[in-house]
Amino acid sequence: MSEISTLVTEGHFRYIAAHTVQEDDFLRDLKREARSAGIPPIWISPEQASFMQILLKLAKAREVIEVGTLAGYSAIAMARALPEGGRVRTIEISEVHAAFAEQWIARSDVAGRVEVHRGAGKDVLPTFAADSADAGFLDADKASYPLYLRESLRIVRRGGLILVDNAFAFGQLLDERPTDREVGAVRAFNEYMNQVQGLHSIIVPIGDGLWVGVKL
Ligand code: DHB
Ligand code: MG
Repeated sequence: MSEISTLVTEGHFRYIAAHTVQEDDFLRDLKREARSAGIPPIWISPEQASFMQILLKLAKAREVIEVGTLAGYSAIAMARALPEGGRVRTIEISEVHAAFAEQWIARSDVAGRVEVHRGAGKDVLPTFAADSADAGFLDADKASYPLYLRESLRIVRRGGLILVDNAFAFGQLLDERPTDREVGAVRAFNEYMNQVQGLHSIIVPIGDGLWVGVKL
């Protein structure tokens, strides 16, 4: 029995959600406003945010990079786990999303701790100095994940944290006929992760599957 994991059901996920830090009114408002602004309603769950905050605290992270800001939910959540003087540099390709996120970051409790960098990850990441971050969170176009990962391994210091979202491919990872066009890219990336040198990582079944890795 000892090597067999408990089959985690929807009920367990609800239980986890009920037994973690709850979302505050600010992030709830951000989500509501994002929906009414027509921004894709895509954000990490409160329990995933809490888990990522714990990992950032364990890593004693001060500097975090993120690819894929969208509405700014995860950037704000991560910034809350950083000490005074900490910073999240988050990259967003959509001007509309970047403007929305900046507006909400400015009103948040972590205003001044999050910088939105406009552009594509492939163009912006190379402008960040080597060893200039303690952690990275990849949550953008899945076909570019291998490139984002290579850049992140340059930017994040040894012993730093690499997080990658959507390892379960929007719930379609094991589907025989997935409908989302990015599922193939996620599957390929998951295979790639196991071959990457200098990174010890595992998929944690929280949210839509979160790769958690430490740079060796
Ligand atoms: C979706 C969810 C994500 O977390 C993401 O990064 C991209 C897309 C989705 O549900 O479609
Ligand atoms: Mg995601």
